[in-house]
Amino acid sequence: RIISRVAGQGAYLPERVLTNAEISTFVDTSDEWIQARTGIRERHVAADGETTADLGHAAALAALADAGCGVDDIDLIVVATTTPDLVFPSTAALIQNKLDMRHGAAFDVQAVCSGFVYALAVTDGLLKGGVFERALVIGAETMSRILNWEDRTTCVLFGDGAGAWVLERAKGGKAGLVGYDLRSEGRYSGLLKTTGGVSSTQSSGVLTMEGPAVFKHAVTKISNSMERLIEREKIAIEEIDWFVPHQANQRILEGVADKLKISRDKVISTVAQHGNTSAASVPLAFHQAVNDGRIKRGDLCLLEALGGGLTWGSALVRF
Ligand code: ACO
Repeated sequence: RIISRVAGQGAYLPERVLTNAEISTFVDTSDEWIQARTGIRERHVAADGETTADLGHAAALAALADAGCGVDDIDLIVVATTTPDLVFPSTAALIQNKLDMRHGAAFDVQAVCSGFVYALAVTDGLLKGGVFERALVIGAETMSRILNWEDRTTCVLFGDGAGAWVLERAKGGKAGLVGYDLRSEGRYSGLLKTTGGVSSTQSSGVLTMEGPAVFKHAVTKISNSMERLIEREKIAIEEIDWFVPHQANQRILEGVADKLKISRDKVISTVAQHGNTSAASVPLAFHQAVNDGRIKRGDLCLLEALGGGLTWGSALVRF
């Protein structure tokens, strides 16, 4: 049996930390409100001139080191991002150049906060199909660049960062990507979007969100996706060692865990330190839990995300 194995993983966070208290000096908000409604305490923000490709490149280097392989061993780069450096070339191509990699293929996947789960699925198909041998899958974002810093309903929620996995085609064994469930519903595109784009306003615009409406969709849609997935893969919820959700809001991730009766001590949460880093949030949370010794080789992990589109999905991975 051919499987996509996680050979290594890594992450990168920009140095600068922006606390809730600092945000409350320029918009009408408070540390208490932000923590009570979202669980967020602080987030990292990219420095001037530091781009999504820089963050993704740093995470890729960490993942390569962890996998014990070099650029020559990689033949595919897939980057999930909604905040690319440029309209084109893709951020994946820019990272390929930063890695001085002159072979293989590179492209971006755009599914906003669900991007990493989508990118895992796309990459898994290409590896299993025998098209590529070993891939870097990167989730990287500079959400700070598309925020309206005068809008307290959105600017407190997001952060910057990157996470990366090395996925490789492997024969036999149980470890690897077990399965995934992907969904989208474009009729909800107005709930979470930017106010601009190349073809419409020739600018990137800023992020707007009908927060409570997105919240209502989040718990139900994510839970349904996870239930479909574990049923399809014939996995009992008790078999799952770790739940690694997209880090949008502590209330959402606990709501989903409770709905599926996943015990709270199996939930990996980094929302307090990172905020919502969109496509980077799942690999960043995963990295933290591997680093602190919670997620171990052989553990079965359930990943999920929901974001603009609306897009959502889940993935089962045996690390
Ligand atoms: N500080 C203080 N008060 C605030 C703030 C703030 N930062 N933001 C909003 N408020 C006020 C509102 O104006 C409102 O005041 P009013 O009652 O006088 O009108 C009150 O607080 C309550 O606002 P709600 O929006 O109803 O607050 P809610 O409890 O729903 O929390 C939040 C808002 C945190 C945005 C929540 O709805 C949420 O997490 N939504 C989902 C976000 C999400 O999952 N996004 C998907 C991924 S993101 C992506 O894909 C890019």
